[in-house]
Order: sequence, then C-alpha cells, then structure tokens
Amino acid sequence: MAVTRTFSIIKPDATRRNLTGGVTKMLEDAGLRVVASKRIQMTKEQAEGFYAVHAERPFFNDLVSFMISGPVVVQVLEGEDAVKRNRDVMGATNPENADEGTIRKTYAESIEANSVHGSDSEENAAIEIAYFFKPEEIVG
Ligand code: PPS
Repeated sequence: MAVTRTFSIIKPDATRRNLTGGVTKMLEDAGLRVVASKRIQMTKEQAEGFYAVHAERPFFNDLVSFMISGPVVVQVLEGEDAVKRNRDVMGATNPENADEGTIRKTYAESIEANSVHGSDSEENAAIEIAYFFKPEEIVG
C-alpha cells in the first residue's frame, strides 16, 4: 500500500476542550504521522472558501460560523492509504452513528461540533493541503 497524505482539521469544539493532544494521539495510534501542523483562527472568508463545495447546503452558514468560533489545528497526515485510514479513525459525520473507538464517537458533541475534518479523496486532500500550507511547511 502506498504512503500518501491527507488533510485534517481539529475543530473548535475540540481545541476548546483541550483535546488537541487526545485527537492527535488517536491519529498517530491509527498509523498516521503528523508532517505539518499549525493552530490558526480561520477568517470567515477562509472558512467560506474552504467549504465552498457545501455553499448550497442548508447548514452552510452554521458550519462556517462554527468553524470560526475558535481556533482550529490544521494538519497534514502521512501514512499508508492516509485518506481512508483517517476517515476510518474519524468515524461517521454524526457521532450518534460513529463506531466505538473512533475520534467522533470518543469526543464529538454533535453533527456540527464533530471534532475533526478529514479529506474525502486524494484529489481533495491535495487541494485542501495547498489551501493552508506552503510546500516548505511540510516535513515528512
Ligand atoms: S462528509 O463527511 O463530507 O461526507 O459529510 P457531509 O454530511 O457531506 O458534511 C459535510 C460537512 O458539513 C458538516 N455538517 C454539518 N455542519 C453543521 N450542521 C449540520 N447539520 C451538518 N451536517 C454536516 C460535516 O461535519 C462536514 O464537515 P467537515 O468539516 O467536512 O467534516
């Protein structure tokens, strides 16, 4: 299996509860390596651009408001089949549907405050990584 990269966000509900370390440990225990990481306060424009694909969905404004409600930690993760590995350890979008042992089952508060974002394809991972990181900020 090829070593690939994915993009992750530790969301404001998790940073607010001091869970950056807890979430990161679950990512690392799942076989993912953090090769870039920074804590940022997203602007409204940044969040709207990042989630532009969801602009027509009814929850778009709530999602953007939530994502700028506090700091987030953006990360590049590396590992074998990183996109799927990360999606598996994240668990379902709605924590009520997430499997035991996943990040969202363990930590998420609701479908909105669901602690983590992870890219859904390698193509989107490349786009999302480039949205937040310069190549020289990623150290594999
Ligand atoms: S996914 O993971 O992209 O397949 O999930 P999806 O259901 O398409 O949701 C896309 C993102 O929108 C968030 N979301 C919501 N936010 C607020 N309120 C409601 N009701 C809601 N439903 C979905 C969901 O957490 C996804 O965010 P990201 O950051 O991509 O994980």
